[in-house]
Amino acid sequence: MSSSTGAAPPHHVAIVMDGNGRWATKRFLPRVAGHKQGVESLRRCVKACADRGVGVLTVFAFSSENWSRPAEEVSGLMELMVMALGREVPRLRDDGVRLHFVGAREGWTDKIARGIVQAEAATADNTRLVLNVCFNYGGRWDIAHAAQQLASRGESITEETLNRELALAHVPDPDLFIRTGGEQRLSNFLLWQSAYSELFFSHRLWPDFDEAALDEAIAAYQGRERRFGKTSDQLATSGTHTLRTA
Ligand code: IPE
Ligand code: IPE
Ligand code: MG
Repeated sequence: MSSSTGAAPPHHVAIVMDGNGRWATKRFLPRVAGHKQGVESLRRCVKACADRGVGVLTVFAFSSENWSRPAEEVSGLMELMVMALGREVPRLRDDGVRLHFVGAREGWTDKIARGIVQAEAATADNTRLVLNVCFNYGGRWDIAHAAQQLASRGESITEETLNRELALAHVPDPDLFIRTGGEQRLSNFLLWQSAYSELFFSHRLWPDFDEAALDEAIAAYQGRERRFGKTSDQLATSGTHTLRTA
């Protein structure tokens, strides 16, 4: 059994940033105020991840199913996206963050699509942290879309070919999958890619998810044994044992 010394942080962290609405409602504020605070929380989380040696952060910002929310909330979220793109990108560029947007482009307004193209171009040379923002994304959409792409070219559908067509083909699968807000479900996020991710559910609402909460999730991850179908004994003898004890 290996000791806790040298326990590596997760390379890829994925987060369902849930609980913005409840954060606002608790304060008698409109739900959009919670989403605004959620952007602040994301800024803090990006910095914290980079400082802790995380290489890839993938966040769920708007799901395929979130279109069914009240029109006012949906338009508030779209406006916030335009605003955040304008305000956050220069800082992210200077901090070495490379931005990728992931999701069904058909749902992006022209303004958002332009902002996204500019944000991706402005940060394309950065290597400190990859930030994937999933916007109008759904795990089922991702898998169906990848299969359609392969079918349209007459290619066979295998795990390898699908992997290459999926929205996160540019990064390895998430090591740690966090959901804030207390719910214990995936809500259609990274269904394929999270096959062997370690799951961590936090009761903190997303705007309250701070560095200490992130450290708690990373520490839990570092205490897990990732067996990938093998036995503990096999991992111990092959030298790939990943159990970290405190
Ligand atoms: C997550 O927070 C953000 C989005 C879905 C856009 P919610 O808005 O779902 O917050 P709760 O779950 O209602 O508190
Ligand atoms: C998941 O949260 C989507 C995002 C965080 C963007 P939801 O709030 O939409 O999930 P459900 O509806 O509670 O499952
Ligand atoms: Mg929610």
